[in-house]
Amino acid sequence: MPTEPPRLDPELFRRQAHEIVDWMADYLSQVGSKPVQPAAPPGAVRSALPHSPPAAAEPFERIMADFERVIVPGLTHWGHPGFFAYFPANNSPPSILAEMLTAAIGAQCMSWNTSPAATELEQVTMEWLRQMLGLPEVFTGVIQDTASTSTLVAMITARDRAVGREGGRAGVLDRLTTYTTLEANHSVPKGMRLAGIRPEHIRMVETGPENAMLPDALGIAVRADRAAGLIPAAVVATVGTTGSTAIDPVPAIADISRREQLWLHVDAAWAGSAAIVPEMRWIFDGVEHADSVVMNPHKWLLVNFDCSAYFVRDRAALLRSFGASAEILKTAHDDTVVNYRDWGIQLGRRFRALKLWFVIRTYGVEGLQAMIREHIRLGQLLAGWVGDDPQFEMVAPATLGLVVFRYRGKAKGENGEAELDRLNLALQDRVNATGRIFITGTRLNGRYVLRVALGHLTTTEAHVRQAWKAIKGEAAALSR
Ligand SMILES: Cc1ncc(COP(=O)(O)O)c(C=O)c1O
Repeated sequence: MPTEPPRLDPELFRRQAHEIVDWMADYLSQVGSKPVQPAAPPGAVRSALPHSPPAAAEPFERIMADFERVIVPGLTHWGHPGFFAYFPANNSPPSILAEMLTAAIGAQCMSWNTSPAATELEQVTMEWLRQMLGLPEVFTGVIQDTASTSTLVAMITARDRAVGREGGRAGVLDRLTTYTTLEANHSVPKGMRLAGIRPEHIRMVETGPENAMLPDALGIAVRADRAAGLIPAAVVATVGTTGSTAIDPVPAIADISRREQLWLHVDAAWAGSAAIVPEMRWIFDGVEHADSVVMNPHKWLLVNFDCSAYFVRDRAALLRSFGASAEILKTAHDDTVVNYRDWGIQLGRRFRALKLWFVIRTYGVEGLQAMIREHIRLGQLLAGWVGDDPQFEMVAPATLGLVVFRYRGKAKGENGEAELDRLNLALQDRVNATGRIFITGTRLNGRYVLRVALGHLTTTEAHVRQAWKAIKGEAAALSR
């Protein structure tokens, strides 16, 4: 007998969905008791799964059993209260629930016509977020998938503006130059490259001791490029670098950008969320002069991946670069509505505004501010403990919930820097092997340093104390 095509069975879906919601609630409450990182070696998950797809339908129970048996033990748990690696990538119950609705609705949000409510909710939530961040009204927001994409969009728009200014003459693209620093996220030079900037024209401007761009060095580089017949087009400043949450001096960079006609894009992907707190608003000083800015609610604002808020000053320039029409998409409303397919790279777009709306309404601006304040407080608490311990040194200010430090070993001053690099790497491995916490390191000013990134919904002071105890304990074991 031929196999029947799939049919919707709402009652079966209801039962299975209830079961999965129970699983999710258990997971959220118990994730802290699991190892943060899987013990499984590379290839373990793949080898536990069949090489070819099943020809016949499989029951839900069997799929769920394999999910628990094979998939879950192979996960790194980003929502674990002991997850201090990389950067926070949060979620929260309202965001998860909204994602369930998004999946159920299955909306394609490319045009107003394909999903009017999704488009208008995106307009409303981006306006809410603009107000929350204290950005001037001249900025309009759109949700992109990631900061990488937002920065790429900014670089393409900047490129087109610069080429347009030169009358679109042949060979202009080959003469465009762009500027950022080595501390910028690697998605920044990548975005520049993808926008067509020749790799040898992407300048890494010198940074100072605090790992922030030196504006004088930017000015010198721009003038030198102009003198050499090149065309400076854009600069990307970072507010909260990935390595150490360093903040580039945006007011001075904005002055240079205005003078030199550079597109100024501000990458505040991680730390930008802190600007919703009035006493932290200073991190956005000068951002009012930027051409574009990105911050990720999917990092530090309880919205699960993906949701990247891209704000642009010259909406017309964005539309010139990304506007594209097709007969099938034309509607009678096109002159009066927003069609977000013209605001970025993708045609098909997810309904991301729904989870942002759920989160902002569920916690309120005050609740989100309280969370950011608490994470900053915990960062400063840990920084105080680290700073008070002669075996450790703080290597960057813990302004934005990230604590960057270096283990100095007992024999302070006797070990060479290379030896200390090895020691810090060994300490990181030992701490992570406990399975209770997960930290990552990076290189700052040539030295290997360790990072504790705070910003998850579930992390409390008790977890930070445990983390410090584990770090100190493993350091002591290492030096025995
Ligand atoms: C400063 C900064 N910019 C950009 C990114 C990339 O973000 P996304 O994964 O959204 O592309 C990160 C990620 O850590 C970041 O910290």
